[in-house]
Amino acid sequence: MKILIHPDAERAADCVAELIAARLRTEPATNLGLATGGTMEAVYARLIAAYRGGQVSFAGATSFNLDEYVGLPPDHPCSYWRYMREHLFDHVDLTDTHLPHGDAADAEVEAARYEAAIVAAGDIGLQLLGLGANGHIGFNEPTSSLSSLTRIKTLTRSTREANARYFERFEDVPRHAITMGIGTIMRADEVVLLAYGAGKVDAVAAMIEGPVSAACPASVLQMHRKVTVVIDEAAAKGLKLRAYYDEVHPDGGEALL
Ligand code: F6R
Repeated sequence: MKILIHPDAERAADCVAELIAARLRTEPATNLGLATGGTMEAVYARLIAAYRGGQVSFAGATSFNLDEYVGLPPDHPCSYWRYMREHLFDHVDLTDTHLPHGDAADAEVEAARYEAAIVAAGDIGLQLLGLGANGHIGFNEPTSSLSSLTRIKTLTRSTREANARYFERFEDVPRHAITMGIGTIMRADEVVLLAYGAGKVDAVAAMIEGPVSAACPASVLQMHRKVTVVIDEAAAKGLKLRAYYDEVHPDGGEALL
């Protein structure tokens, strides 16, 4: 794992936006795996600015989002379809976009269709991930199979509480989501995970330095060939090998060697 520690969330978001833009410049036809959530808003804002400044184009790219709530139609104000339109799709030249349909008549059939669509597209080139405070990636909650494919997951109470800020009432937060599986994510060519803030400190430590375990689904990334973890000071506080990461990538910069 490449561990890049930045002084603050702003610099960490700059770094992730640049990693995505760099990939699109060298490989315009990349299949991007995209995430939602509070963490990604700063990344998408930077990508929109870069697009407007002529520094990046998404015209050749295809995107597949990680997840969607079961039961929410694409135009629901709290759906991830809506989030993606508001935070990215409506502002850049990315047109070939995919998310699971939360309002499909049969969510299991929809999950299988979505997995097949990712495979048919040749799998994900660059997968962007956030990190749940409980160690989830996508909506693969603790105890998820480490080889799972896209399917329905029941959300933990803590995940529903964390996401309740987007809904009027806690009871409105759906109990289920369609999510790419951990096996789906692990097939990506390259993974970039962004986490910042003190709320992620335990999950970051477990992901990077803990045992590989379904108790912290993100820890499976230790088995991936090309992962960049971008974090800020606050999220890095629990790392035991901090001095080593600083030595390899001072100030979150590129490797010395
Ligand atoms: C979002 C997703 C989740 C979030 C995670 C962190 O598509 O799959 O794994 O990345 O819950 O969410 P925030 O960024 O809101 O802390």
